[in-house]
Amino acid sequence: MGNNAAEKINLSFKGKDILSLDQFSIKDINLVLKITEKMKDITRDTKPSKILEGTIIALIFYEPSSRTFGSFSVSVKKLGGQTLEILDPQHFSSVSKGETLEDTIRVFEAYCDAIILRHPQKGAMEAAAKAAFFIPVINAGDGIGEHPSQTLLDIATINEKHGHLDGLTGVIAGDLLNGRTVHSLIKGLSLFKNNTLYLLSPKELNLSREEFSNFSQRGIRLIEIQSEKDIPQNADFWYWTRVQKERFHDIQKYEQVKNKFVVTKELVTKFAGKNTIIMHPLPRVGEIQPEVDTDPRAVYLKSQIRNGMYVRMALLALVLGKI
Ligand code: CP
Repeated sequence: MGNNAAEKINLSFKGKDILSLDQFSIKDINLVLKITEKMKDITRDTKPSKILEGTIIALIFYEPSSRTFGSFSVSVKKLGGQTLEILDPQHFSSVSKGETLEDTIRVFEAYCDAIILRHPQKGAMEAAAKAAFFIPVINAGDGIGEHPSQTLLDIATINEKHGHLDGLTGVIAGDLLNGRTVHSLIKGLSLFKNNTLYLLSPKELNLSREEFSNFSQRGIRLIEIQSEKDIPQNADFWYWTRVQKERFHDIQKYEQVKNKFVVTKELVTKFAGKNTIIMHPLPRVGEIQPEVDTDPRAVYLKSQIRNGMYVRMALLALVLGKI
């Protein structure tokens, strides 16, 4: 909010913008995980929750979304709040007439208690959070930047399976250059000790050298690989991602690198262990074969999706100071 955008959380979520994993400590993540467990109970309750009763949350999505939009929207409603939903504001709001992002944010802060924003430009979140004087802004994905609520749900999914967030070995594959979920996840896992990530991507889609250096300085071990044969045996998780077609200016370049690495039954049999979970933030566009979906280790259409709702319920309750 205002000049305090991207402030460290320090166990005090109330009123804070949620823009980046840089704001989080281990204690902050553990608090989200603890409240997430409460939220699971709330969804099982027969009595409707009133935790967000009387609040209206704006969902403003300049880019398409199924999961983030759907789960935030349902999370508000599960907690008794209401939503104001603007999908494609470039066509269905006065953005189409030339209204600036800052003005749009100021308008909706007059009506709502928080704004959940998705935007194609990295950096737009900081501008929006500074424009909102009185209410928090939650980053629902900013271009190739970050996607913090995705990382919280990814971390909840890893923790649910393995019971710890340190000493992990993971494989992150796909579009590491443009994938915002990857950027936030590396930052999140960097908070915990002794984590090692194998980064599998075509060299054109490696992390930028600036990000590789920045992330490496956080203490996490990052090992870049460019061949499936270098995938470690029995990793704790695989995190596959799609090549982000919408970030390419030259479609031929996209065609050259898309689906270079595909999860097949054979790949799982060869390299995954019995406790390896197979994750994907979705949508997938061919990089995990449907034949893998029924493997009990594949969580991308199961717990990873459901955790999105529980984690976002927790985040909203915390940011609005209701829990
Ligand atoms: N994982 C994710 O952000 O999905 P959506 O783009 O559908 O929200």
